[in-house]
Amino acid sequence: MPSFPSSGASPQKQQQNNARRRQLIRQQRKSLPIASVEKRLVEEVRKNDTVIVVGETGSGKTTQLPQFLYDAGFCLDGKVIGITQPRRVAAVTVAKRVAEECNDQLGKRVGYSIRFDDSTSNATRIKYMTDGLLLREALLDPLLSKYSVIVVDEAHERTVHTDVLLGLLKKVQRSRTIYANKNGKILPDIQDQLQYFTPKAYQGIKIDPLKLIIMSASLDAKCFSDYFGGAKAVHIQGRQYPVDILYTYQPESDYLDATLVTIFQIHLEEGPGDILAFLTGQEEIESLERLIQERTRQFPPQSSKIWTTPIYSSLPSEQQMNAFKPAPAGTRKVVLATNIAETSVTIPGIKYVIDPGMVKARAYNPVTGMESLIIIPVSKAQALQRSGRAGREGPGKCYRLFQESEFDKLVDSTVPEIKRCNLANVVLQLKALGIDDIIGFDFMEKPSRTAILKSLEQLILLGALTDDYKLSDPVGRQMARLPLDPMYSKALVVSSEFKCLEEMLIVVSMLSVESIFFAPRDKLEEARAARKNFESSEGDHITLVKVYRAAAECLEKSKNANAKEKTMEKALNRWCRENFINYRSLRHARDVHSQIQGHVQQMGLNLSSCGDDMVLFRRCLTAAFFLNAAMRQPDGSYRALATSQSVQIHPSSVLFQKKPDCTIFNELVRTSQNYVKNLTRIDPLWLAELAPQYYATDD
Ligand code: CDP
Ligand code: MG
Repeated sequence: MPSFPSSGASPQKQQQNNARRRQLIRQQRKSLPIASVEKRLVEEVRKNDTVIVVGETGSGKTTQLPQFLYDAGFCLDGKVIGITQPRRVAAVTVAKRVAEECNDQLGKRVGYSIRFDDSTSNATRIKYMTDGLLLREALLDPLLSKYSVIVVDEAHERTVHTDVLLGLLKKVQRSRTIYANKNGKILPDIQDQLQYFTPKAYQGIKIDPLKLIIMSASLDAKCFSDYFGGAKAVHIQGRQYPVDILYTYQPESDYLDATLVTIFQIHLEEGPGDILAFLTGQEEIESLERLIQERTRQFPPQSSKIWTTPIYSSLPSEQQMNAFKPAPAGTRKVVLATNIAETSVTIPGIKYVIDPGMVKARAYNPVTGMESLIIIPVSKAQALQRSGRAGREGPGKCYRLFQESEFDKLVDSTVPEIKRCNLANVVLQLKALGIDDIIGFDFMEKPSRTAILKSLEQLILLGALTDDYKLSDPVGRQMARLPLDPMYSKALVVSSEFKCLEEMLIVVSMLSVESIFFAPRDKLEEARAARKNFESSEGDHITLVKVYRAAAECLEKSKNANAKEKTMEKALNRWCRENFINYRSLRHARDVHSQIQGHVQQMGLNLSSCGDDMVLFRRCLTAAFFLNAAMRQPDGSYRALATSQSVQIHPSSVLFQKKPDCTIFNELVRTSQNYVKNLTRIDPLWLAELAPQYYATDD
């Protein structure tokens, strides 16, 4: 039997379709605001080492500028144009789009590289990646010598990686500026040479310069320009249709419910156009998705339909792509997104934006050294970006689910993340890059001295730094190589010594994703009963190991039945539904697992299992997470030992019902209370035995 393309179209028809699509893409590209300034941008980049590009979301910065530079010959000698994104999703979706625009397969000329997923090849010249990944590359190649241009995109977000990267790139740029004296002799390091030559004695001949482009959707480019010694800023004139802003008359006590009501209000009363609702995380998105589905089931069959599609960072990329697809005819698309859809990705077709005005953010207490996640009001800048999403293709409406008077109270812009997160990771990275003086590092905005000192102290306690603040070998060096939080890296290193690396690998992978269990509101009892099958009375870590292993067994079974990969995935999906496990999260955890496994094997760590010896594994968890230990108090609450903070066990923990005397935990969440999540029961005596550097008393 001859085989036909799956769409059923004949080859000629497909060719026609492709040609039409290419034509459409060409037209779209030409009509973008950035298209009219191509020459000028290329010129500015040629003339200046650092250029700042400011333009509204959707003006074409991320997709077009790298192509302009490629066409202008910035990759002629095999060099690469690197574009960093704060978010994985953006790197992936944009790379796919640009590959299509170049009429090339992804992974050839255009590719992406993100933690746990790399699509690039030797042929890749335009490389989209996360900012964290580029920092990691710098560990192996401190001069980033394969790049001719680095574009730091979404710089206005000021993620901790962006801030560190900017400092590092400034340094790299200086080191790559090669000067020669007037006889043409190359002076390798101008810093060293300056003491021997007066400035007139050499000519600055730049041989291998690194071009740096900082891109931002916020109009305030001054801070970037100042930081780069008055770098030139180019503004792209955006195109924005008017957006009607609507506020509530009363404060909303439950913004999730208010979002639900607003979605249906728009769906039933407003004209065509898709809806984009901003929520704070995966859990909220999934619970709203279910509520919408429940409600639409009650609609009469002939009424117009709603199609919900989520998008958030930890969603597997092929599922993220759904948000970009057009809704089927007669259907309204409702995109449920985190702040990822604020500026970093452009979703076509949006006419209505719902903004509850909240965002999940990292918060850090430099005195206690404890980082937590909190849900806080957005900044004015964020609210403006969100409403702007409604006016991309025509006039739109933005429903702010708060009162107008509240808008005035919002802060102007978000505090850079570097000022509100644990710096252990940053400090470890900088140390591994050979930057010893962290306090003296040229940060765009300096974190507090207390915060830096606290993270140095933590790294010493974790054994990553020696007492005189040097990177320890091999532990610190190994930890820096793992793309994980230092505490998790430490856990892997320790578990190799305890001979339970297999179990710890599972734990770290499962903790790297959000919410493995799901409990729909209408099936709470069934979900609870299903979880009982996996529950360990010792705590959540062992419970997670059991879930992971049961899922692996399910896959193994279908593999033994010679099932194809697709069938295996289907079986896993069904198994997840039956067991109230979040399939998306589990898939992601499996990906993370295979990636970290690769890393630890490269590092030569011992991949061993402790079998049934769960005491050994709990001891290992104690040795790894001793900084997060908590003791039960007479009143039933807990006290975190490192910080003396009062905390409660989160209701999602398997230890919520049977409260242990002493526990270690992985996460602190602040809502009305301080809650700790992901716990394991431990023996308090283990703390002094396994972490004497912290708990042993002097006497
Ligand atoms: O970076 P900036 O926000 O300035 O714009 P961009 O991401 O380069 O997007 C420019 C245009 O490309 C958008 O308006 C979309 O129409 C289109 N685009 C797309 O169709 N699919 C994507 N995955 C990304 C962009
Ligand atoms: Mg962009």
